[in-house]
Amino acid sequence: MKLPLLRKILLPLIVLVNCIGFSNASIKVINELKSCLETNASNTTSIFVARNTHSERYNSVNYQWNTNSEIFPLAYIVPQTTKDVQNAVRCGKASKVRMFPKSGGHSYEKYSFGDSESVVVDLANLSEIRVNKAGKTAQIGAGALLSKVYFTLWTNGKFGLPSTSCTGVGIGGAALGGGYGFWSKRFGLTSDNVIGMDFVDPQGNLLKVKRNSNPDLFWALGGGGLGNFGIVTNFEFKIFDAASLNVKQIVLKFCVNLFEQIFSGFQTLVYERRNGNPYIGMTITPQDITVKIIDTDLSDADIRKIVDRFPPQMLKPVSVKSMDFFELTLENSTPETKTPEDLLKVSRMSTSKHGYRAKSYFSSKILNHRKIAQLKPSLSSVPSGIFLQFGSFGGAVNQIPKNETSFVHRDSLYLIQVGISPSDEHSKTELQQRIWLREFNNVAQVLDNGESYQNYVDGELKNDFLQRYYGDNVRRLIEIKRQIDPDNYFAYEQSIPLRNP
Ligand SMILES: Cc1cc2nc3c(=O)[nH]c(=O)nc-3n(C[C@H](O)[C@H](O)[C@H](O)COP(=O)(O)OP(=O)(O)OC[C@H]3O[C@@H](n4cnc5c(N)ncnc54)[C@H](O)[C@@H]3O)c2cc1C
Ligand SMILES: *[C@@H]1O[C@H](CO)[C@@H](O)[C@H](O)[C@H]1NC(C)=O
Ligand SMILES: *[C@@H]1O[C@H](CO)[C@@H](O)[C@H](O)[C@H]1NC(C)=O
Ligand SMILES: *[C@@H]1O[C@H](CO)[C@@H](O)[C@H](O)[C@H]1NC(C)=O
Ligand SMILES: *[C@@H]1O[C@H](CO)[C@@H](O)[C@H](O)[C@H]1NC(C)=O
Repeated sequence: MKLPLLRKILLPLIVLVNCIGFSNASIKVINELKSCLETNASNTTSIFVARNTHSERYNSVNYQWNTNSEIFPLAYIVPQTTKDVQNAVRCGKASKVRMFPKSGGHSYEKYSFGDSESVVVDLANLSEIRVNKAGKTAQIGAGALLSKVYFTLWTNGKFGLPSTSCTGVGIGGAALGGGYGFWSKRFGLTSDNVIGMDFVDPQGNLLKVKRNSNPDLFWALGGGGLGNFGIVTNFEFKIFDAASLNVKQIVLKFCVNLFEQIFSGFQTLVYERRNGNPYIGMTITPQDITVKIIDTDLSDADIRKIVDRFPPQMLKPVSVKSMDFFELTLENSTPETKTPEDLLKVSRMSTSKHGYRAKSYFSSKILNHRKIAQLKPSLSSVPSGIFLQFGSFGGAVNQIPKNETSFVHRDSLYLIQVGISPSDEHSKTELQQRIWLREFNNVAQVLDNGESYQNYVDGELKNDFLQRYYGDNVRRLIEIKRQIDPDNYFAYEQSIPLRNP
């Protein structure tokens, strides 16, 4: 079996191979795999799309919104049923080719696209959603995008599921790596709401994974499930009644030179409300700082108390909007959506092409004035192509012990994402970004708890990614990896290894 990745080094070679067609080894693998899939197919057959960069079909299944290091996998398998996924995994192993599960394709490091030697199992067609109104549960195919999830849950009884506001994200990746958003403090992470999963193991067996029937695997998939053990084809979720939520969204906009006062207001509010429900977010761009608070049933007095935490000099008047749960989802959806039906039009190609990578830090520190002043030079002079997003943690997320699921980040006040849209190499912007990131890296210690969010996967983390993503839970994850996938068939740069490194 080939060792995974080295994508960056392989890239020039990939392009070359694509210009002249397949190497002999690839043709052999493709033929073997195709014939195995056909011979062993049950009632249904996966769609099989072999690499051909001149084919519209291949280019459309291989759509990559993230333009960093374009990848050309050997082939795509698009299963129609869980049986097809089992068949794909068995045939992949028999043909000695690695398979990479892909749900929404939003992995920041593009780990769902594998590499030029491997095959993507694209779960796009496993996106059926069935709502059980009486039981307040839903069956959701792993390939469903959150756009479809939110639309279907709302239009079938006004239900909701806590997850990301970016509706182009797949439920598969969101639920297996956490899934954080506006409603996390009230209803938990997406992963905290999983009741059961259909899981195809590396031998191609179908396992029904529940807390009681398969406790180790259930535990591992609740935060550590991103391409590490096998392929989840279907989830059962607990859903919440969203009909009666009277949502208020407060938005405040400031100049970056007020950084110290705004940061101080943000951390105070986050701390004061750490056991409550509200989402408190702060986004810093080169142009301005935006603070967003989302909660239900806020009185005018509550709103005044919140706004009073911040300096009065604003770029725009305070915006306070009242809406229902679904209006909030629509208003904050990326890609942009205006009408409910727009959500159903969101596809894997709706996220426009751009380069992206990110760094993340969990923080539980309350900083004094001196420390905040230390942050100011860096945080109030963010260069073009970079933004910082702070989002409150706490509430329901932190009420769960750190070892109860594999999602370890349970004692933070907030999560910081540094989003980087890289610029052309050797350009002035690129140089500014590099200098800024080096400076930020020095001041980030002031905030950092030593943890990063596995769903904001960061390929630049080298020796400490396991510790930063999984903390003390990494030992049990490695043990479970050895039981479920002793051949390390599901592997990539930052997958859970068989042994502690
Ligand atoms: C624009 C944008 C906004 C985002 N906003 C948020 C946010 O607000 N909150 C938040 O929590 N996250 C957010 N994310 C991160 C997002 O949650 C993760 O990238 C998530 O893993 C994406 O899921 P996916 O199914 O789209 O990804 P994919 O790229 O398909 O998969 C991600 C990883 O999981 C593996 N995988 C996928 N499906 C399966 C499966 N069925 N079984 C086993 N392994 C699987 C893949 O191999 C890959 O390693 C955002 C990402 C983007 C790009
Ligand atoms: C295949 O289809 C037949 C009828 O079309 C059905 O009876 C059978 O259960 C199916 N088998 C599987 C494995 O799905
Ligand atoms: C596929 O089917 C053939 C013929 O029945 C069988 O020999 C082979 O073992 C099967 N392969 C897999 C991976 O199931
Ligand atoms: C199934 O996948 C194919 C290939 O990606 C796509 O053209 C088709 O629209 C998908 N169907 C559904 C129902 O998602
Ligand atoms: C979690 O940790 C607590 C205390 O450290 C321990 O008592 C408990 O057994 C652990 N639970 C699991 C599921 O490992």
